Amino acid sequence: MLYGADKEAVWSSKTLAVLDPSLPQRFQHNSHAAMFRALRREAPVHFCPDSPYGPYWSVTRHEDILAVERDHQVFSSENNIIIGDVSPEFDVTRAFATSDPPTHTQERRAVLPSFTRKRLQVLAVGMRQKIRSLLAGLPRDREFDWVEEIASPVTNSMVGELFDLAPEDRSRLPYWCEVLVTTPEPGALVQSWEERQAVVETFRDRLLHLWSDRREDTRRQDVIAALSHSPDTAQMNHNPMRLVGTVALIAGANEAARGALSGSIVAFHQTPGQWSLLEQDRGLIDNAVSEIVRWQSPIIHMRRTTTQETQIGDEVIPEGARVVMWYCSGNRDERVFEDAEDFNILRYNADKHLGYGSGIHRCLGQHVAEMELRLLLEELLDSQMRLELVEPPQRILSNFSANYSKLVVRTVA
Ligand code: HEM
Repeated sequence: MLYGADKEAVWSSKTLAVLDPSLPQRFQHNSHAAMFRALRREAPVHFCPDSPYGPYWSVTRHEDILAVERDHQVFSSENNIIIGDVSPEFDVTRAFATSDPPTHTQERRAVLPSFTRKRLQVLAVGMRQKIRSLLAGLPRDREFDWVEEIASPVTNSMVGELFDLAPEDRSRLPYWCEVLVTTPEPGALVQSWEERQAVVETFRDRLLHLWSDRREDTRRQDVIAALSHSPDTAQMNHNPMRLVGTVALIAGANEAARGALSGSIVAFHQTPGQWSLLEQDRGLIDNAVSEIVRWQSPIIHMRRTTTQETQIGDEVIPEGARVVMWYCSGNRDERVFEDAEDFNILRYNADKHLGYGSGIHRCLGQHVAEMELRLLLEELLDSQMRLELVEPPQRILSNFSANYSKLVVRTVA
């Protein structure tokens, strides 16, 4: 089975010609490294004529991904930034990540006050306490799931802080956001469109309530207040599904941080000696945070659509084409990163990774994610706790999010 093949020899120009790099099983099995090495070498701008998503181009080298990211006029984010098309039922909840300027510029600018360094410094105090108490509560005498005990509660709590939500809304937000992207069917989170609509309306009404409560209070800097204060978005309450979409975008984007918080455990476990380096020198924490994101690439790809015929490398791409930037490949590009497959917190250029994208859509939550990772590493070091994986990590089936469904670990003395 090709998705299990992490051997370079399997990939010849013949197999690359018929390759669909997006097969989600390959990412779930973590067996995509050799395929991307071959693509970077043999076909760095690769065309797949037929896939479940339709035809698409893959960009796999660091340099080419940067070129696509930085030309947002030719490589548009309007409507969609994932490989598959989003069905029209979900269109109403689009947000600025799937918009081009000027809408993108206005809406992104509106939420920036919620992400300033000053505000994050304040939030960091509470987050440190949260992480400390979660670590202190971990079982010492039995195995546990890192995703359930640490990665999820930390990221959920961070989102709750960014929106300044009361406890009952914090616990309902992940459900609301999940329903928003669910196609109703038997056995799914919602079974019918009516049921889905009822949940979405509850979500919408709650946000409108918070909006009207907060818009007069200009001292507030949470995301909902910031949107209501900005002249560019002060009317968003008249288009409440846009508000729902914007809140869901930020809450959903946070899932990437969960992948990084879990990926850090896998990285340190699989690379003996790296944790000891950190124990000896805490000055390495910031570089370790960059290296975790480079190595894990929590967001696997983003997609753009060409607005005109263009060229990347040697390939001419027609107008209206899907172009997929594989961050997981750019982050392992041997032209930029020496021994690129290795996790190495001493790497001198770890911060050149593409994990947060680049250009006008560069991750808005980068400093949030880095804060979460830094606090986790600091608190783990303080606790003197050492962790080891008890069984192979279980990854989710996705070609978009490099996340874990389960990470069974135990503490070692
Ligand atoms: C390690 C964790 C994270 C990674 C690897 C990550 C990665 C990314 C990537 C690759 C993009 C697209 C960039 C592009 O298209 O050029 C993005 C966009 C975005 N991220 Fe993150 N992200 C992380 C955490 C977060 C967090 C914690 C938040 C907010 C709480 C967040 C909010 C956003 C938003 C709102 C956008 C859309 C930006 C725009 O279109 O202007 N991200 N992120």
